[in-house]
Amino acid sequence: EDIGVFQRIGESTDVVRKEMYDFHDKGGRHIALRPEGTASVARAFVEHRPTVPFKAWYATPSFRYEAPQAGRFRQHHQLGVEAIGSSDPDLDVEVIALLVEFHRAAGVAQFTLRLTSLGDDVCRPAYRALLEAHLATTELCGEHTTRYKDNPLRVFDCKRPECVAATKDAPVQVEHLCEPCTAHYQRVKAGLDALGIAYEEDRRLVRGLDYYTRTTFEFSPVGVDAAQNAIGGGGRYDKLIEELGGPSTPGIGFGVGIERELLAIGDAATPSAIRVFVVDTTGGEHARDLTALLRTHGIAADRAFDQRSLKAQLKAADRAGAAVALIIGPDEATNQTVTVRDLTNGEQRQVPRADVLAELTNQ
Ligand code: HAM
Repeated sequence: EDIGVFQRIGESTDVVRKEMYDFHDKGGRHIALRPEGTASVARAFVEHRPTVPFKAWYATPSFRYEAPQAGRFRQHHQLGVEAIGSSDPDLDVEVIALLVEFHRAAGVAQFTLRLTSLGDDVCRPAYRALLEAHLATTELCGEHTTRYKDNPLRVFDCKRPECVAATKDAPVQVEHLCEPCTAHYQRVKAGLDALGIAYEEDRRLVRGLDYYTRTTFEFSPVGVDAAQNAIGGGGRYDKLIEELGGPSTPGIGFGVGIERELLAIGDAATPSAIRVFVVDTTGGEHARDLTALLRTHGIAADRAFDQRSLKAQLKAADRAGAAVALIIGPDEATNQTVTVRDLTNGEQRQVPRADVLAELTNQ
C-alpha cells in the first residue's frame, strides 16, 4: 500500500512510527508492507465506493517490526471483518458476537472480552485535554515525557513504572462521554447482555491504532500466560473513511491473529496430518506404489525411505502420528496381501492387496 494509507491510522502509534516495513519501490513510490487490514479495506472502499452497508472479510499477512517473542512475530496473519456504512450500535453487537462465535468454533476453550468506549470527536477533545493536564503534573517515562502530547491516551498502554503510576488515578474516557456516545455504549452493552455474551468493562483499554472511536474491544484467552496474548481486537472507526478521502462513513470490525488463535487452541489445533503410514521391508517398491495410490484417493499417507528396519519404520509411523500402518514384508509381498495394523490398539489382520483401499475407506 501507499505509505500514506497507514500514516493516517496513527502517527502517534508504535505500529506506524516504529514498526512499519516501508521502502521505495523501483518506480520511486514510497510504499509499506501492510501492518494490518483495516486501513487497506477502508482505502479500497474509498476507491470503489460499494453500496452500504458493506461487509467484507479478509485474511492477510501483516508485517510489524516488533521484537519477536512467543506469540509476537514480524510477519503474522490476520483474519478480519469490516462492516462499513452504519453507526447503529446493534452492528457493534453483531460484529462482537461473530468473533465470540468464531473463537468458540475454533476451539478456544475460555476467553475474556474486554470492552470500552473511546468516545467521538465531540467528547474526546475535552477528555484529552483533561488527561493531558493530569499527565503534565506527573512523572512519565523518558519517551512519554516528550511524546505524551501527540496522543496522551498512549500513556495508558505504556508498561514503564512511571507511566503505570501516572495513569493510576488518571481520568478515563468512559466517565467523560457525551450523551450520544453514552447512549451508544449502553445499547451495545444491553445487546451483549441480551445475547448472553460476558464482557468486562476495561476503562484503561486503549488499542494500538489511532483510528478508533466509540466501541473498542479485545479478546484474550484464559490461561495463556503471555504479555502479548490478545487473540483478537477491534472496534469502531467512524472517521477513518473520511480521513482517507471518502465521504463521512462509519465502520466497525475486528482482526484475529491466526498464530495466536492457534497457540490458544493448543494441541487440538495440530492433529496429525498423516493417517496411514506404509511400512515396506522388501525394498521399497510396494511403499512407493501404495503411498502414491493412497494419495490419489485423498488418503493422507507417508512412508519411510532408505530401506530402514521394520522397527525403525514403525517408530517413524508412530512419530508421524499415523492411525494405521500398512505393513508389507516378504510374506505379504509373496501373497499379494497387506497387514493392516491399527496403531492405537495394536490389532492387525492381513487383507488382499486389492482390498486395501476399500478397507481404509470403510474404517
Ligand atoms: P490489532 O489489535 O493491532 O488490530 O491486531 C489484531 C490481532 O492481530 C491482535 O489481537 C493479535 O491477535 C494479532 N497480532 C497483532 N500483532 C501481532 C504480532 N506481531 N504477532 C502476532 N499476532 C499479532 C488490528 O490490526 C485492527 N486492524 C483490527 C480491526 C479490524 N479493528 C477494526 N477492524
